[in-house]
Amino acid sequence: MNAIVVSDLTRRFGQFVAVDHLTFDVRQGEIFGFLGANGAGKSTTIRMLCGLLKPTSGTASVGGVDVSRDPEGVKRRIGYMSQRFSLYERLTVDQNIRFFGGIYGLDQAHLNRRRRFVLEMAGLEGRERTRASELAGGWRQRLALGCAILHEPPIVFLDEPTGGVDPLSRRRFWDLIDQLSASGVTVLVTTHYLDEAEHCHRIAIIHAGRLAALGSTDELKHMLADRSIVEIHASNPVEAMRLLDRMPEVEKTSVFGTTVHAVLRADRAIPTDALKSRLVDGGVPVAGIGPVQPSLEDVFLEVAERA
Ligand SMILES: Nc1ncnc2c1ncn2[C@@H]1O[C@H](COP(=O)(O)OP(=O)(O)OP(=O)(O)O)[C@@H](O)[C@H]1O
Ligand SMILES: [Mg+2]
Repeated sequence: MNAIVVSDLTRRFGQFVAVDHLTFDVRQGEIFGFLGANGAGKSTTIRMLCGLLKPTSGTASVGGVDVSRDPEGVKRRIGYMSQRFSLYERLTVDQNIRFFGGIYGLDQAHLNRRRRFVLEMAGLEGRERTRASELAGGWRQRLALGCAILHEPPIVFLDEPTGGVDPLSRRRFWDLIDQLSASGVTVLVTTHYLDEAEHCHRIAIIHAGRLAALGSTDELKHMLADRSIVEIHASNPVEAMRLLDRMPEVEKTSVFGTTVHAVLRADRAIPTDALKSRLVDGGVPVAGIGPVQPSLEDVFLEVAERA
């Protein structure tokens, strides 16, 4: 069953097309990732799906409700954690929860039950009287998630929920997303952290408002199945990249920390030993070299280039 059905969804700001004929479905209980560079149109799409921004054309239904015809009906059925603003900074943890409970119209008993759930889920027991502005990043984001799901919505939109959050807190946050999904909640989430995207059942890559790729991580990685990728560990990755980029067998390179990925041309094979010798001869010591499976980063760069 599809929780979200999007067809030719388009949004213009004046002449500028921010979202350009997007078409995709999200299944119930799915974790659906939205990837794309800054300005790709992710937040604009989410705001339309939440009933906060009118589409210029096209249709979208969320939980069976048409976002253009009944935006208020959509708002009642969803949870939304916006990219920038999602908590009241000057209110305490407890006041934020009660405030959102009021907005969602929860009665006292229901609110008390959900309040306990959120405090426990977010690990915020004992911090009820701390101001939101004084919470560390990981706690803030978990509180914001808690407030977004206080009314137990079946569909949740999370717009960059882990931006600026440390790796351990990010992992903890994704455990919560996994739990939501396992309980049947549909989650549409944006992120710039590609390691997080591995948690998603399916991923849409948005480029300049258009759908550039859609599929599971395995399906997306399959796009690079015809090319070999070599990973090189070098103390000077920048210099290694410069040398590799000049080799006719190398289609493109990208750097991840101290490792370089070189995508080889499909029609020009070169053994890794030979590649290593050329790097060493060029003055770049190689600590390790070997073939690897494409990462999501490789896919992301490939898709951006094709688009
Ligand atoms: N209200 C608006 N008026 C004019 N242009 C807008 C408006 N809202 C968004 N845009 C433009 O639409 C484009 C898409 O913006 P959007 O916020 O959807 O991108 P995004 O993919 O969420 O980017 P980021 O990763 O930086 O959050 C951008 O070029 C942005 O400047
Ligand atoms: Mg955004």
